[in-house]
Amino acid sequence: MAKNYYITTPIYYPSAKPHMGHAYSSIIADFFARFKRIQGYNVFYLTGTDEHGQKIERAAKENNKDTLLFCNEISQIFKDLTKKLNLSNNDFIRTTEDRHKKSATNIWNILEKKGEIYLSKYSGWYSVSDEAFYSEDEIEDIDGKKQSISSGSPVEWVEEESYFFKLSKWQESLLKFYSENENFILPISRKNEVISFVKSGLKDLSVSRKSFKWGIPVPSNSDHVMYVWLDALTNYLSALNYPNENDKLYKDFWPADLHIIGKDILRFHAVYWPAFLLAAGIKPPKRVYGHGWILSGDQKMSKSKGNILDPLQIIQTYGLDPLRYYLIKEVSFGNDGNISEEKLENCINSDLANNYGNLCQRVISFCEKNANLKISESINFTDNDKSILSIYEKKFDEILKFIDKQDINSYINFIVTQLFAANKYFNDEAPWKKKSDELRLNTIIYTSLELIRKVTILLYPIIPATSLKVLKSFGIEEKDLKFETIIDHNYIKKGSKIKKIGILFKKI
Ligand code: ME8
Ligand code: MG
Repeated sequence: MAKNYYITTPIYYPSAKPHMGHAYSSIIADFFARFKRIQGYNVFYLTGTDEHGQKIERAAKENNKDTLLFCNEISQIFKDLTKKLNLSNNDFIRTTEDRHKKSATNIWNILEKKGEIYLSKYSGWYSVSDEAFYSEDEIEDIDGKKQSISSGSPVEWVEEESYFFKLSKWQESLLKFYSENENFILPISRKNEVISFVKSGLKDLSVSRKSFKWGIPVPSNSDHVMYVWLDALTNYLSALNYPNENDKLYKDFWPADLHIIGKDILRFHAVYWPAFLLAAGIKPPKRVYGHGWILSGDQKMSKSKGNILDPLQIIQTYGLDPLRYYLIKEVSFGNDGNISEEKLENCINSDLANNYGNLCQRVISFCEKNANLKISESINFTDNDKSILSIYEKKFDEILKFIDKQDINSYINFIVTQLFAANKYFNDEAPWKKKSDELRLNTIIYTSLELIRKVTILLYPIIPATSLKVLKSFGIEEKDLKFETIIDHNYIKKGSKIKKIGILFKKI
């Protein structure tokens, strides 16, 4: 029976213009979802939109729109984005859907019934833009304006009756949970950051708001709506038909294997979320990976800073796969990364056009001219052929480890090294000099095609459309795609005919 794998992106605050940070989180999650599928897992990949709270309510007002209609419109933009990014998500959840309201209400009821929630009063700082409460030492005064030190977002003073979640009570249990699940938070630097935050002492968390209405009502007191983060985090359960714990989706996929998030929302996912779940008697997820920020200049790319590189415009100019490749390769995963069109163009030219594209083009054209695209029945590998083909077998376990540690950087480095190696093999073997030795000529072609096939399987989670184009020319369809076939040296059918492919990537 296939094993299950549940992966999520954050659910996005919908806005009229999605930016590169949104695209990034989604593409990364799609990479893992696609890899796990070809590894043989039954994958559930979830994304969606986070539509409650003051931020959305204010945005609707500014646009003079009814709040739900506004959400319908901008959520649709994000749904469209999943297509434009060629995401393989299995569901798209909206927190304004009934299935989600039911699930969040249920979590609230459990927490209240267990005595984990009490009524009191909140007075302190709140950032609507981050939908986060900040303590005095987390804010600074810049030109007479109070703002969050970590995000730079403005904060406002809030004083109102509020329900609190007994977060302080869970401090020791959380620390125990982190030490028993040592890879719960990755990368390690972020894990250390979270642990020291928790060790420094947790205060109870305000989990309801009274001064506006755009949220899920607190079931026992409709003067309050739930704090948007308690609402939003629950989406990961709602999509599995929680609270129906006998539902097949819930049984198969909870606890989640991997929440991909940006580092700005680490505290919500790595502290509050497991605390809510532990308190409710539900298993916490297995891993939270906090990636870095996409920077433009030295600043986080964000709508409020107005320094957005528009993913849709980039896709229109350069194509989707180049963008996906660029984000995965050039932003060192886990760290912040500065991106620019110039660097994107260099990456397209050097990696995609010159290295991968050229390899495919040369080998297939050569096969066309010298073998009429026909794969010979008789192939006789030399030791050198076998040794270069065997690299994939030798690296097989290591590649799986890269994936299971979310070590995308090592994964892509391996690919780039193999692209150079395959190009070098073709050059060194110089089949154009071996036209009189048909067996050798055909074997060099076959070895080169097998090298292309293997590396293309590894590229599939990164540049799915291009990879499928190449694999199709060898008669391999998406449904037959299996990671384990990278160790086979005789996969492309002997005696078959491959198809020509057009230019994969144009040089700029
Ligand atoms: O935080 N670089 O939604 P969001 C990299 N609704 N990633 C970035 C980024 C950047 N410049 N800007 C944003 C929310 N992101 C909540 C999530 S989950 C239960 C609720 C990433 O639309 C950010 O880190 O503000 C986050 O992972 C995602 O985009 C959504 O951000
Ligand atoms: Mg944000």
